[in-house]
Amino acid sequence: MDPQTPQQLNRADGTLTTIVGASRSGKTVSALAQVRNERRVLVWDYQGQWVAHGFEESTDLAALADRLEALGNSPARIAVRVPFNELNFDLWSECAMAWGIVAPIVAVAEELADVTRVNKAVQWWGALVRGGLKYGIDIVAITQRPQECDKTVLGNASVLRAFRMVKPSDEAHVAEYLRVAVEAVTALGNGEYLERDFRTETPAQKGKIQIRTPRPSANPAEPSPSADPPPR
Ligand SMILES: Nc1ncnc2c1ncn2[C@@H]1O[C@H](COP(=O)(O)OP(=O)(O)OP(=O)(O)O)[C@@H](O)[C@H]1O
Ligand SMILES: [Mg+2]
Repeated sequence: MDPQTPQQLNRADGTLTTIVGASRSGKTVSALAQVRNERRVLVWDYQGQWVAHGFEESTDLAALADRLEALGNSPARIAVRVPFNELNFDLWSECAMAWGIVAPIVAVAEELADVTRVNKAVQWWGALVRGGLKYGIDIVAITQRPQECDKTVLGNASVLRAFRMVKPSDEAHVAEYLRVAVEAVTALGNGEYLERDFRTETPAQKGKIQIRTPRPSANPAEPSPSADPPPR
C-alpha cells in the first residue's frame, strides 16, 4: 500500500521545538514536561534517561521496527537506547517517520551534535525534519552544541528554547536566532530559559523550570551522571 501524502491525510502541521543549553541546564527536564501528556512518543535516548520516567525501553532497532509496525496507531511511549552513531540515528529517524505517518507522534532526539553534522542532515533525519512536520509529526530536537549539529534544527524551528550556555560563541549564535541581545542569554541562570515562538510575532519570552537539587546517591530517576562535568 502506498503511503498517503500529507495532503491526503489532511493533518495539522507538526511543530519542531529545538532545545539548546549546557549540560545540566534543564533541557531533558523541560522536554519530559513537554511530552508529559503525549500518548505516542519515540525518543532517541542516548543517555538512557527516559526509561526511569516510565518509557518503554528499546535497545534493538530491528525489534523496534517490528514493535512500531505492530502498534500501528496505538499509544506507546518508547525510549530507544542504542549505540549513538549516524547509522543507528538514521534508522531511528526512519522508524519515527514510518510510525508518525500511521498516526502523529512526538519524536524526541537527544544530543543531536553526536549524530548529525552542520551541513548534512542524515538522510532520514533530514526527511523527518523537512517532511515529517507536514505529516503532523512533532519533533523535539535537543543539543548542548547548537553550532555543531544539523543547522536545520535552528533554521526550521517552530519554537526555540535556550537554557544557559557555556561557550560565548554558542551564546552569540543562539541570541541571533532568538533576536535578543547576547547579554540576555549570558544572564540565564540554571533552569532559566528564553523561548521564541517563530510562528508568532511575539518576542522571546523568559521562563524557568523547577530543577531538583541533585542528591549525592545514584538515583535511576536522575539523568545519568556519565556525561556531566564535575560538580561545581
Ligand atoms: N525530574 C526532574 N525534575 C526536576 N529536576 C530534575 C529532574 N531530573 C533531574 N533534575 C535536575 O535538573 C537539572 C537539569 O537536568 P537535565 O537532565 O534537564 O539537564 P540537561 O540540560 O538535559 O543536561 P544534559 O545535556 O547533560 O543531558 C539537573 O541538575 C538534575 O539534577
Ligand atoms: Mg539531557
